[in-house]
Amino acid sequence: MCGIVCYVGPRDTKSVLIEGLKQLEYRGYDSAGIAVQHGNQIACHRAVGKIVELEKKLAGLDITGESGIAHTRWATHGAPTEENAHPHRDEKENVFVIHNGIIENYHTLRKRLQQEGVHFRSETDTEVLAHLIAHYYDGSLSEAVRKTMGQVEGTFGIAVIHRNEPGRVVVARRGSPLIIGLSDGSRFAASDVSAMVRYTNQVIHLQDNELAVLTKDDVSISTAQAVSVKRDVETVEWRGEDIELSGFPHFMLKEIYEQPNTIENAMRGRLEPAEGVPKLGGIMPVWDRLKDCRHLVIVACGTSFYAGCVGRYVFEKLTEIDVQVELASEFRYRKLNFPHNTFILALSQSGETADTLAAIKEAKRKGASLLGIVNVVGSSIARETDAGVYNHAGPEIGVASTKIFTSQLTILTLLALLLGRHQNLSLTDGVEAIRALKQVPEQIKAIFAQANHIEAIAENYYHCSNWLFLGRKYNYPIAMEGALKLKEISYIHAEGYPAGEMKHGPIALVNPEMPTVAIVPQDDMYEKMISNIQEVKSRRGPVIAIATQGDAKIRELVDEVIEVPPTLSFLNPLLTVIPCQLLAYYCAKFLNRDIDQPRNLAKSVTVE
Ligand code: M6R
Repeated sequence: MCGIVCYVGPRDTKSVLIEGLKQLEYRGYDSAGIAVQHGNQIACHRAVGKIVELEKKLAGLDITGESGIAHTRWATHGAPTEENAHPHRDEKENVFVIHNGIIENYHTLRKRLQQEGVHFRSETDTEVLAHLIAHYYDGSLSEAVRKTMGQVEGTFGIAVIHRNEPGRVVVARRGSPLIIGLSDGSRFAASDVSAMVRYTNQVIHLQDNELAVLTKDDVSISTAQAVSVKRDVETVEWRGEDIELSGFPHFMLKEIYEQPNTIENAMRGRLEPAEGVPKLGGIMPVWDRLKDCRHLVIVACGTSFYAGCVGRYVFEKLTEIDVQVELASEFRYRKLNFPHNTFILALSQSGETADTLAAIKEAKRKGASLLGIVNVVGSSIARETDAGVYNHAGPEIGVASTKIFTSQLTILTLLALLLGRHQNLSLTDGVEAIRALKQVPEQIKAIFAQANHIEAIAENYYHCSNWLFLGRKYNYPIAMEGALKLKEISYIHAEGYPAGEMKHGPIALVNPEMPTVAIVPQDDMYEKMISNIQEVKSRRGPVIAIATQGDAKIRELVDEVIEVPPTLSFLNPLLTVIPCQLLAYYCAKFLNRDIDQPRNLAKSVTVE
């Protein structure tokens, strides 16, 4: 969704800001803008559409300055027009502000300001901030921002410059991430560390209701109540090359191919093969309560939710824990009634998904303990939870989540194994599970060897406008995830169904024009899946099977087979999802879609 980049220092401010915005493109946006300050001159330019449109406007202009702010906007209040794009400014064009989040009382504030004679230029909620800051300005930008923070309700990450305060950027947050970057003689701030990782890995995570004043060699942080605070400088593990394509045509394909590594990273230093027990240092702060937990609620959205759905089956297999999986956007409106010692486990790549964050805050209010499996270190969900496990998978840039899904499955399996071994799971089963898990990265490479075959299948079927994905038990969530991947990047309509439900409705759709992807590894659901495939075939529906290597029987039945190596039944999803990701990728490629930034979607969904 919206993205913020700020810079103060001796570099070419315009280039730093534009490069930073490009690193945030993956978050999804529909307009962009920049304001660069030199002395008491501020050059502000905005454009609808991609950053390249903004660059066209800037071409040939001599824009230099010692500080600046830049923004990508994903429209919420008002259409994606130039006037609604950020930065917004006050009437005298002294104050320029960019904003992520939503000002909930903007309507009241706008009316009040209008009654005082203020003229608004845009339909946005953000513009009230510019007028309020100008109104409160009395020689100190930070004090004007602080007073404005006291007036607004809702969420914000903001960055502000003032004509009278060259070389200074004031940032503040409540509910929207803001990270400050430090390098020699330069200060950065951004909503996402990827915008600055090219220049520095030394960061400070600004906390809610804090404000920071950035100058080229200083950062001073204080609370909304003007109490000065010291925050530790942290080192981020993401590297410059993590945000490069490194020869791949798309980040999605790069991230699919990173999975053997990201699964290794999820396990690194966390296995004790001889004991059949994983070690998860991040959950130790709550271990005394967690080890006796009998009720776990997993909350998440989108692909993370489907990882949670696989997790439920894995926990049921390995532990005595009763697991519930909930869509965060619904969970928070339910009557929450937890048994004693319930743990809530949030799954989130970004750690900023508004619904997931709100759901865990609500659960905390009701007395539950919170765990997180999160990729972005220091993110809001990571900070809100009592304990948790990081994915260590590097940034996921493609809007379609791939490597984080398999990383989440790996960590969920480790967590289930750890708890299972403290309950009834035997040493033999624990050792066997770890042995099989360690084989997964190499097994995924064996699936990659079929990439040309998967591409050829996609070429045969990408013209079909409806697809069905079927699976049972561990692979039912993979059917849903396969359908989600296909629809979000190719815009083909797809349904993911538990195969047993097919007869209760979706079978009416089956015809020679609708391919069915049947996820049918040789597990305890195999024979039942074969019956479902026969039902599709007898209605002349084409079937693409994702099946276990060497399965001769399936070849007699279906139109296409993609093989996955044999593994333990509860680990199959780590393998069966890979062909689904590649099928979606190649269909989108044949349809010439914008694979890394599909229409209407945002990588980090920070509004409800
Ligand atoms: O950052 P999160 O894991 O919390 O994001 C949840 C969903 O928004 C995300 O998985 C979304 O569904 C992806 N676009 C799926 O590919």
